[in-house]
Amino acid sequence: MIYFDNAATSWPKPPGVAEAMLHFLNQVGANPGRSGHRLSVEAGRIVYRAREALAELFNIRDPLRIVFAANATEALNLALHGYLRPGDHVIAGSMEHNSVMRPLRTLARPSAERQGIALTVVPCSPQGFLDPVDLEAAIRPETAMIVLNHASNVCGSLLPVREAGAVARRHGCLLLVDAAQTAGAYPLDVEADQIDLLAFTGHKALGGPTGTGGLVIGERVDVERLEALKQGGTGSRSERQDQPDFLPDKYESGTANAVGLAGLGAGVRWVLDQGVPAIRRHEVELTRRLIEGLTSIPGVTVYGGLDAARQTATVSFNVAGLLPSDVGLRLDEEHEIMCRVGLHCAPAAHETLGTFPHGAVRLSLGALNTADEVSIALEAVDKLARDVIQNYHPERSEGPKSN
Ligand SMILES: Cc1ncc(COP(=O)(O)O)c(C=O)c1O
Repeated sequence: MIYFDNAATSWPKPPGVAEAMLHFLNQVGANPGRSGHRLSVEAGRIVYRAREALAELFNIRDPLRIVFAANATEALNLALHGYLRPGDHVIAGSMEHNSVMRPLRTLARPSAERQGIALTVVPCSPQGFLDPVDLEAAIRPETAMIVLNHASNVCGSLLPVREAGAVARRHGCLLLVDAAQTAGAYPLDVEADQIDLLAFTGHKALGGPTGTGGLVIGERVDVERLEALKQGGTGSRSERQDQPDFLPDKYESGTANAVGLAGLGAGVRWVLDQGVPAIRRHEVELTRRLIEGLTSIPGVTVYGGLDAARQTATVSFNVAGLLPSDVGLRLDEEHEIMCRVGLHCAPAAHETLGTFPHGAVRLSLGALNTADEVSIALEAVDKLARDVIQNYHPERSEGPKSN
């Protein structure tokens, strides 16, 4: 079986992740940061070590500026709902995932009591890239935030985070980066990239289990203004009925997913041991092979910039005469290749790429995939495409066309 669905969640997990979770469940087990006994202290230490590993990976001086969340979606909602106020102007790119688009569309809807935020969606190119000049042109005096997907979850295109950071600094607004597709797979430096808020997911390239993610809160962010999405027990300041105002406790109410964070810590340490540049080199090599192979198959259209150096290891394509869902089903049933088809929770990105409403077939590779797996997948797609040409079904002719 070949698992090419790492953009949804990575699998298998790096060595050490399952072991760290089992160790937590079997040997530690207690609630972190609550009780004073040794098991609770050890649980708290494991959670803190996960924070430290992430701080090293993202180049953050203070690990306590990392707030854990259930996933990138929760982290993005905290940043957007927590920070934005009626009348604020926000700029986003047209390659955003619905984890950004849906909170923004919700915030933009006026209600009887309050006006919405104003939203500008800057169009990206049909290859999925964004020109920072267009971003800067969209700035208004009331712009409070630029939100940018670091890499498209549809075609992998890398977006200009560093340039966006410079624009945000020049105009006194914040930059929120959705690093769901890059954290652990592509170098990220919160300081150098001038990122104010970084939402990450733990269960993709960081190698952790589902149910993990978080938000990095930079030093330019006014923590007083950034409202918590929930309030409750934190294990700190138990004598007080009001919510703590300090990091990370203000945003981490309720018992942490400690077993998940034990796994995430192990995943991040594995990434640090390999080194992000080495992981990136491996993935660029696999992506280059995949793009070259797919573009040479008659009837196959590949989306994006077709340049492995400018994208992540996520490649989307269509086979002329077949719906993406048919391709996905046949890859699974006939070739045991796992991929994701359709719109990938990113309708705006598919509109940008011209693949809306059918979407595309997405092969997303990870650090543990191999060149042999790429060769097998290419043979499988080649076979599917040849079958269509040989047994052309007129009733399928409304499916995506090669262009
Ligand atoms: C670009 C992007 N943003 C956000 C998310 C949401 O991540 P999570 O599933 O961790 O909430 C995803 C998940 O696929 C994504 O690809």
